[in-house]
Amino acid sequence: MQQTLSALITGASSGIGAALAHALAAPGAVLHLGGRDAGRLDAVAAACRARGAEVWPQSLDVRDGAAMAEWIGGVGRLDLVIANAGISGGTGDGVAEPPAQVRAILAANLDGMLHTVLPAWAAMRGQAPAADGVRGRIAVIASLAGFVASAQAPTYCASKAAADTWTVASAPSARREGVMLTSVCPGFVRTPMTAGNHFRMPGLIDADVAARRILRGIAAGRVRVAFPWWLALAAQVAGALPPALLHAAGRRRPGKAGLPDGG
Ligand SMILES: NC(=O)c1ccc[n+]([C@@H]2O[C@H](COP(=O)([O-])OP(=O)(O)OC[C@H]3O[C@@H](n4cnc5c(N)ncnc54)[C@H](OP(=O)(O)O)[C@@H]3O)[C@@H](O)[C@H]2O)c1
Repeated sequence: MQQTLSALITGASSGIGAALAHALAAPGAVLHLGGRDAGRLDAVAAACRARGAEVWPQSLDVRDGAAMAEWIGGVGRLDLVIANAGISGGTGDGVAEPPAQVRAILAANLDGMLHTVLPAWAAMRGQAPAADGVRGRIAVIASLAGFVASAQAPTYCASKAAADTWTVASAPSARREGVMLTSVCPGFVRTPMTAGNHFRMPGLIDADVAARRILRGIAAGRVRVAFPWWLALAAQVAGALPPALLHAAGRRRPGKAGLPDGG
């Protein structure tokens, strides 16, 4: 990645987004950081400034398409945009997800992602290419959960499957316009999102380790960055099973809790 970098990250107030901001923070970096919790966002911004970056925190909700378009269209040149904000919830002890939870997860993870990527892609089209010929890079934080139709988290899996498929399928047309799209599919990462999980999380890694892998994959111009490789392979195999077999295998697995307020 080049010496001076202008990057925008959604969901930078916590977990993977905060770790990405820390990893990019350096003299010459200009960071536009989004999140809803202004206090946590300011703390991340202060840590990034201490590393020498210029930081512009923006407290907003990715579900607000007009506000997102105004923010992203108004910050000037963007070399890198990471659509990271997201929420997760499951079926808890096996009850169906409340309709409000289904809508809430799709609104944050799918609409929120598109509210980030589409204006960023439009802005990057009009930017001059950098020395490597790339006008801009956009990464979408999907998940290995998108590879498997898990009965424990139907909407979360669906939101991440859609995010991954859309990003991977759009990458060739974006590339022809000088914009690199990367779908990022992490396994389990230690963040507030996974802190309440009461099941085994194979291959669990720290957020700073995940951030370094993500940034390496984006810089290498990869269309999909999925890790750890062995869990990605296992998820792909599980995803290829007939649904009856997949759901029988997962029947005794404890579920992920639903959203605190039912969405
Ligand atoms: N942790 C994992 O194991 C894992 C694995 C695969 C993929 N992922 C994905 O990685 C991304 C980051 O997750 P994380 O683990 O770092 O979770 P996290 O610590 O809970 O952070 C989620 C971030 O998203 C922001 N966010 C949520 N809804 C938002 C909204 N409507 N508008 C604006 N910001 C919103 C939160 O901001 P506020 O708190 O300020 O609202 C927070 O900064 C998510 O897309 C998640 O699905 C996580």
